[in-house]
Amino acid sequence: MTTIRRKRRQGNDAKWKPIALAISTAGFLSILLYIVRLIPWRSSGGVGVGVGSRSVSNSGSGRLGQYQQVATTKIRQQQHPRKNTKYAVDNLLPMRRALEDDNFDPLATELARNILGASLNLVDIHIISHSFSITEDSYSGIVAEFCPLNFTAQKENPPSLPMFKDVVGVSPQCNKHNNVRVDLKEAVDLVREFDADNTDVLPTILDLKGVVFHESRCGSTLAANSMMALHPEKNRVYSESSPPPYAFKICGEDYSDCSPQASANLLKDIIYLMGRSNDPKEQNLFFKFQSVTTRNLESFRLAFPTTPWVFMYRNPIEVMMSQLDVPHTSKANCVRSKHSSPLIKKAIAGTQYKFDDLSDEEFCAVHLATICESALRNLEDADGVGMAIKYTDDLEYAFIDTVFPKHFHALVDEDGRQRVEKIAGTYSKGRGMHEGEFHSDSEEKIRNAPKSMKDAADEFLGPVNKLLDKSSYNFRPEEEE
Ligand SMILES: *[C@@H]1O[C@H](CO)[C@@H](O)[C@H](O)[C@H]1NC(C)=O
Repeated sequence: MTTIRRKRRQGNDAKWKPIALAISTAGFLSILLYIVRLIPWRSSGGVGVGVGSRSVSNSGSGRLGQYQQVATTKIRQQQHPRKNTKYAVDNLLPMRRALEDDNFDPLATELARNILGASLNLVDIHIISHSFSITEDSYSGIVAEFCPLNFTAQKENPPSLPMFKDVVGVSPQCNKHNNVRVDLKEAVDLVREFDADNTDVLPTILDLKGVVFHESRCGSTLAANSMMALHPEKNRVYSESSPPPYAFKICGEDYSDCSPQASANLLKDIIYLMGRSNDPKEQNLFFKFQSVTTRNLESFRLAFPTTPWVFMYRNPIEVMMSQLDVPHTSKANCVRSKHSSPLIKKAIAGTQYKFDDLSDEEFCAVHLATICESALRNLEDADGVGMAIKYTDDLEYAFIDTVFPKHFHALVDEDGRQRVEKIAGTYSKGRGMHEGEFHSDSEEKIRNAPKSMKDAADEFLGPVNKLLDKSSYNFRPEEEE
């Protein structure tokens, strides 16, 4: 199957040609050099890079010189991360001007080309409150931050860097003083235009195979690590990355500020940017989203109606024990957002209880219930595009045997199976385990859960969990009694 989306060329638009040629030639030269091992592409190798860089940079002018200039830039950047302080913080880079105006700052032009060529990745979003607006047709006042992410270490050992923030942490040029900031809408328009005119060269538009929604503390990190371990070279996995939640929640949890379609359009643009790759080996794209995005799952379904997704959940008491296992329960993830969540207020208004009378344990159960209720509703509406997966100790086999091959339509070969089994073993032994995931040796603790917690779980979270257990869209639906 082809990995590069084939699009019809739109006329003979010549304006991108020099840039496209430059970027594709840079990519081509890099691959060539990689193949002949002049550049140890993934491992560092100062001498090789230096030689490559010099030999490329010393010749040529005119068109050829232009390709070489970009290639040189790319190679040099790998060796000595180049600082950008000019187009960070409050100073937006005017991307279109930088690309079209020959007399504009050459640094800006280079950075803008790096965004087009996907050597800079979208890593964060900011909303500028005084200029922000969004409708179903467009949006403005949203800033996109770019920097070069290095996925190498995550590909080599997923459990050691399971989260997006870990990948950012090992990407030395990614920090708020150095990230390149552009207007998101302008960047998306330019990038889509560029891609439409350059279909058979890098960057590749990765194939979004499947995504994971979850309740939290239910094995979702194992799922993300498995998506990577399945085929590290081919797969790119974003695990709780920063940009998508902005799109999910842009209209408010209850869509009181704009429509689901407006949120979906923004999400499509953000995921489009995140799915462009200048790594010639990458083909497939996976996301694990933050648990609260499940409340706005509708946005995802509108944006990607046929993309398969799963919702992961777990026994109520086990999730609550893990969530509330913190020094101050009022600061637990499932408690601290109680005042800012319209869905929590609405859920409580529908009961006999008063908001101010609820304990932290009860808020936690309501918080989790709003996530599960949205998942249940969307599972039914999606009619098979979504699948519910309940935590078990052998969770990896749900993914190896069913989710990957049958639901996400991602190839599982023998090597992939073994890699997933290996990281699952690593995981259950606690090495590289993500903080907050629950040990399976904690059944004792669960038996000893305070009665007040069990009551809160039964009252608020139990009913929706039973419906999830019995859903016909459950990976392993529980038998009716
Ligand atoms: C990416 O990280 C790996 C180590 O995980 C390192 O060897 C490599 O040089 C880095 N690549 C770049 C372009 O910085």
